[in-house]
Amino acid sequence: MSNAAKTYPPSTEMAEGAHVNAAKYDAMYKASIEDADGFWREQAQRVDWMTPFTTVKDVDFTFGQVKINWFADGELNVSANCIDRHLETRSDQTAIIWEPDNPEEAAQHITYKELHAQTCKMANILRDLGVGKGDRVVIYLPMIPEAAYAMLACARIGAIHSIVFAGFSPDALASRVNGSEAKVVITADYAPRGGKATPLKTNADQALLHCKDSVKCLVVKRTGGQTTWTEGRDFDYKALAKDAADICAPEAMNAEDPLFILYTSGSTGQPKGVVHSTGGYLVYAAMTHEVTFDYHDGDVYWCTADVGWVTGHSYIVYGPLANGATTLMFEGVPTYPDASRFWQICEKHKVNQFYTAPTAIRALMGKGAEFVEGCDLSSLKLLGTVGEPINPEAWNWYNDVVGKGTCPIVDTWWQTETGGHLMTPLPGAHATKPGAAMKPFFGIKPVVLEPASGDIIEGNGVEGVLCIADSWPGQMRTVWGDHERFEKTYFSDYKGYYFTGDGCRRDEDGDYWITGRVDDVINVSGHRMGTAEVESALVAHPKVAEAAVVGYPHDIKGQGIYCYVSLMADEEPTEELRTELRNWVRTEIGPIASPDLIQWAPGLPKTRSGKIMRRILRKIAENDFGALGDTSTLAEPEVVDELIENRMNR
Ligand code: WT7
Repeated sequence: MSNAAKTYPPSTEMAEGAHVNAAKYDAMYKASIEDADGFWREQAQRVDWMTPFTTVKDVDFTFGQVKINWFADGELNVSANCIDRHLETRSDQTAIIWEPDNPEEAAQHITYKELHAQTCKMANILRDLGVGKGDRVVIYLPMIPEAAYAMLACARIGAIHSIVFAGFSPDALASRVNGSEAKVVITADYAPRGGKATPLKTNADQALLHCKDSVKCLVVKRTGGQTTWTEGRDFDYKALAKDAADICAPEAMNAEDPLFILYTSGSTGQPKGVVHSTGGYLVYAAMTHEVTFDYHDGDVYWCTADVGWVTGHSYIVYGPLANGATTLMFEGVPTYPDASRFWQICEKHKVNQFYTAPTAIRALMGKGAEFVEGCDLSSLKLLGTVGEPINPEAWNWYNDVVGKGTCPIVDTWWQTETGGHLMTPLPGAHATKPGAAMKPFFGIKPVVLEPASGDIIEGNGVEGVLCIADSWPGQMRTVWGDHERFEKTYFSDYKGYYFTGDGCRRDEDGDYWITGRVDDVINVSGHRMGTAEVESALVAHPKVAEAAVVGYPHDIKGQGIYCYVSLMADEEPTEELRTELRNWVRTEIGPIASPDLIQWAPGLPKTRSGKIMRRILRKIAENDFGALGDTSTLAEPEVVDELIENRMNR
């Protein structure tokens, strides 16, 4: 099947001008595998070290004793690497172009010099609020420049940031503040998006009711709208910044000190705090940003993600700024004021590399090519996608309508856990195929395993679960406060390997295709959602007895959230209750977890031992119940007929 896939080789111009061409990729990849220490010792020189490291890699993937250390005795500061070291040559170069939600409002061009001053001010304010090295700070901000200042300010003083996406609920915020025992929450009064403003401060107020009294709240007044104010706890960022000193010496941090925590969903339990390091993470983010996007000095680069996700960490802030790039930050949404907004921004700021998610491409494709065609996209040199498998139709539209057939598309496969790209075509080195992640990045050893036995599947034209055989510098180090969970989640199913949770096919040419999650994680609009989390939100509702949640194919979102709900005895299954449950989940987790379809389920298919047979529920949700597979272990086979009869996705 993959043989038939059309391939798009790099243009001569790309192959000649790119940082990495085919021959160089082969040589570098070989070196990275055969002599990982030598390879990464050299690559680590792309960042400035305060104390040079002597050891490169100290890793053990053995379950029960997993440890991951890179450049462990070196010292550096991420903020100094992203700002200070550029000042000599780039102080007046734009570091961040900020494009507000409302196109009538002026864009900002923040130079490296200004970025330095603003970051130092924020760092000094945080210090005054009692934040020191190793302390945690939760950032709950819209896509405004202060989000970048806050991240870099934490890095500067050695505090560990934990960003909570502004679309998450007060409950989710509170559990992350408490989970990391944060000292300060940085938020904004309102978050403008798509012409509407979310009352972020109100959310933070609600969250803080469930946190320790000592937690302080630093508020960036984005709109100046009405908010409540708790004297002694709330601090006005802009007022404090006026008087704060604009210099602040960066702390020397150990390479293995945590840089940030980022909560992400898994197949079981509540979200876990993924911990990323200082040295290895920065080296990996910087290198992948430069090589995958073929970033050259002077280019304008735009990643449309939100800093609430790892993509925003690595490819809006840390990678680009470590490389002295000009990175664009967009506050709004692709469809406001209309579906041409992305392309208008590309034209306005002469964007050279554009990186977005398949879900956005599909949504814009649905609005029609005319929204693209009115804009001058001649500055574009490269397009990227991330977050979920991209269907060939969307890939082709992106290639033809947006890229005019002249921009290579890098389909970057990676995860919150991996810190940066693990598989992607490199634009000057590899032909691309619509929907394929193609090739491992330097130092990455993908292995395809038999799901049940864990045996390695060699050769091409094969499919299985995807593991990685050895570490890379950007790998997560642990789960915050729970190293055991880290080992169990990633190193216990397939011993000696990092288990990605994804399925994968290696085609006849040896190129890699990600086939989607093999665990109970679903991917909604490129955002990872644990079905267990939605289930526990649903059963927390007093009228719900039991719930099972699965994903189903959704035209725009990739996957939609399909919920089977059993009500308490005497509860009526009404439309009102459906709406109530939908709103309930939105409040418990956030709008991204909003159920798409809720089916009333008088019974759920269970084995005789009481385990829900999710495989069957998935099939029904996919409207593909012809072959339900083995149902002989079902306790009550008739509940399946009832569910099929009343299925919601037809
Ligand atoms: C999961 C990770 C990495 C930043 C965004 C998502 C899926 C990610 C691709 C891709 C196919 C992809 C995987 C992965 N995924 N990129 N290019 N092709 N699938 O980060 O929330 O940690 O989710 O997203 O299933 O495991 P995340």
